[in-house]
Amino acid sequence: MNTLRFVPFAEQHVADVVRIDHACQSKPWSEAAVRLELERPEGVFLVALVDGEVAGFAGAWMVLDEAHVINVAVDPPRQRNRIGERMIAALLQECHKKGATCATLEVRAGNEPAIALYKKFGFRDVARRRGYYIDNKEDAVVMWCDALAEVV
Ligand SMILES: CC(C)(COP(=O)(O)OP(=O)(O)OC[C@H]1O[C@@H](n2cnc3c(N)ncnc32)[C@H](O)[C@@H]1OP(=O)(O)O)[C@@H](O)C(=O)NCCC(=O)NCCS
Repeated sequence: MNTLRFVPFAEQHVADVVRIDHACQSKPWSEAAVRLELERPEGVFLVALVDGEVAGFAGAWMVLDEAHVINVAVDPPRQRNRIGERMIAALLQECHKKGATCATLEVRAGNEPAIALYKKFGFRDVARRRGYYIDNKEDAVVMWCDALAEVV
């Protein structure tokens, strides 16, 4: 990998974000849903660029002093190169700058890579929503990071 940088999500990234989301998620966002994130006032949405190419994305919504992480994905051929880890760090830093003191997210109970990644940032399991994901009735694990200042 040569240069990795993070930029705010913009119109020119829409097609790649849709492509990566479809490659990574069993219930991907529609293009219209992706476009909504371009204009959401409470949104913090970053795109990872490797040598100028979109390699992943991460988004959160600011709810009072909480950062709600809504989606994170790395293009499958580029996974396991620390892009996800550096992207979460950048996202949480940005949310912290905007006033977030804590962060939360929900993740499929069987998504071990994502759960392991979030634990590296101090997220811990706090609740379980049984059968939350309608495609396969998988449980959602709700995770919280209580002290964002300590991990960014
Ligand atoms: C989760 C995801 C974003 C991780 O991105 P990545 O760039 O491949 O991850 P990184 O290389 O930065 O790895 C960072 C840490 O994540 C965890 N991790 C990543 N991939 C893993 C895997 N296949 N198995 C176990 N742990 C994994 C590990 O803790 C790893 O740290 P380590 O290498 O010191 O053990 C990526 O797998 C992905 O896009 N998955 C599909 C979409 C998704 O599930 N998003 C989360 C929705 S809640």
